[in-house]
Amino acid sequence: MDQISFPEGFLWGAATAAFQVEGSTTADGRTDSIWDAFCRLPGAIVGGHTGEPAADHYRRVEQDVKLMVDLGLQAYRFSIAWPRVRPDGGEVNQAGLDFYGRLVDTLLANGIKPWVTLYHWDLPQALEDKGGWAERDTAYRFADYATTVVESLGDRVTSWTTLNEPWCSSFLGYAAGVHAPGRREPKAALAAVHHLLLGHGLATSAIRAVQPTAEVGITLNLYPVFAADPSNPSDVDAARRLDAMQNRIFLDPVLRGSYPADVVEDFEEYDFLGNVREGDLEIISAPLDMLGVNYYTEYNVSSVADGEGPPPRNGRRQSGSPWVGLGDLSFPGRDLPRTDMDWEVQPVGLTKVLRRLHDEYPRLPLYITENGAAYRDEFDGDGGVHDAERLGFIDGHLRAAHAAISEGVDLRGYFCWSLLDNFEWAEGYAKRFGIVHVDYETQVRTPKASAHWYAKVTRDNALAA
Ligand code: NOJ
Repeated sequence: MDQISFPEGFLWGAATAAFQVEGSTTADGRTDSIWDAFCRLPGAIVGGHTGEPAADHYRRVEQDVKLMVDLGLQAYRFSIAWPRVRPDGGEVNQAGLDFYGRLVDTLLANGIKPWVTLYHWDLPQALEDKGGWAERDTAYRFADYATTVVESLGDRVTSWTTLNEPWCSSFLGYAAGVHAPGRREPKAALAAVHHLLLGHGLATSAIRAVQPTAEVGITLNLYPVFAADPSNPSDVDAARRLDAMQNRIFLDPVLRGSYPADVVEDFEEYDFLGNVREGDLEIISAPLDMLGVNYYTEYNVSSVADGEGPPPRNGRRQSGSPWVGLGDLSFPGRDLPRTDMDWEVQPVGLTKVLRRLHDEYPRLPLYITENGAAYRDEFDGDGGVHDAERLGFIDGHLRAAHAAISEGVDLRGYFCWSLLDNFEWAEGYAKRFGIVHVDYETQVRTPKASAHWYAKVTRDNALAA
C-alpha cells in the first residue's frame, strides 16, 4: 500500500504542560504560581476550575509513561514548574527537582526522549508580586532558575525549550487579562514581551554554560494572518499589525537580532523601546539549535468591528483585547469547519507557516511542538472514544507538514497536543485536547481512537496515502 513517509529519524511525540496536567499544587514544597492565584479570582476560569486535580500526573507519572510506551511515542514534551523547583522564585527545592528527575529517568528507561520546556506560563506568584514579566529583573530570575534545572537534569536531558508561546504570556496575561496574571495594561504587556525575550536569551546562555552540547530552542505560536477584504486599506493594515505583534515581534529579535521597524513605530506610544538596553538584542539573538512551532489556526482579520468579536484564542469573549493599539477588530468566519474552541480548521496554514520560516528567516531545524484540537468527545457503547474529528485534524495537519517537507523545509519532528485531556487555562476542563481521555473523577485514562491511530503513524513513520 502506498504511504506518505516521513524522513528517517523524524521525531514523534506528544506534549503536556506542568500546570495543565500535574495537580498536587501544594505537594513537596511547591508554592503558588500566577495561575494558582488567577484561578481563585471569581469568574476568571470557566466553571471556577483550578489546577486541581488536573490529570493527577504528579502522582501517576509512571502509569503515564507506560501509556506513552503503548502509544509508541519517541519523545515526551513536558514543562517544569518553576514554583516546584524554586518556590516563590527563591531557594532551590530539592523535592521539586526530584520529581522531574524521576520522570526523566522513567522516560529514559523506556527509550523515550525527554523534551523539556522551562517556562509554560507558571511564574511564581511571588515574582508577579514584584511586577512579574513587566519587570526586567524577572528575566534574570528566569536564567537562575534555568541554571538550577540544567545543573540537575543536564546529565540526562539534551533538548531544552526556554519559553512556550511568549505571545500568550505577554498579550493574554498582561493586555487582555484573560490569562494569569490577569492584568489589562498594554504598556506592561509590551514590557513583558521584551523581558520574556531577554529571559529567553539569558537562559539560552545559562543552559550552554552548564551543558555546552545542549540543543536549545524557543516555541512560538505562529499564525498566517489575512486581511478579510484585501481591497480595504484598513483591513490590510490591521493584518500587518496583527502579524507584527503575533509573529514578527518574536521571530525577528530571536532570529535576526532586531525588532521590526513597524513594530517599533506601532508601539511608540507605549514606549516599547524604553525597555530595551544596549546589548539586549545580542543576548536575545544568541544562536539556537531549533525552533518550535505551535500551530492551531489562521487569522482572517477585519478592521470593521461588527463581525464576530475578539478571536477565540484561549480566553473568553467578554475579555479585554490582546491586540494592543488596534481597537476593535473582527474575525469574519470563513467556510471552514471549527473545533470546540471555535477555531477554524485550516491545515494549509501550517504549510504556510513552515514555508515562511524557511523562506524569510535564517534556517534552523524546525519542530512542530504543538498541534491538535479540542472536540466534544463522547464514549460509545463499547467503552471507546471514537474521536474521528480529532483524528482527521491531526491527519490533515500531518499531511500539511509533509507537504512542507517535500518543498524542502527542514522539519524534524511533531508533538501532538495533547497526550492527555487537561486544564485548558481560562476554559477549564471542559475543552478536551487529549488523544487520551481523562475521567477527572476517577483519573481513568482511555486512549481515544486518535491515540490508537497515532501509535500506528509513529510506528510506520508514515501516513496511509
Ligand atoms: C497552546 C498552549 O501552549 C497550550 O498550553 C494550550 O493548552 C494549547 N495551545 C491549546 O490551547
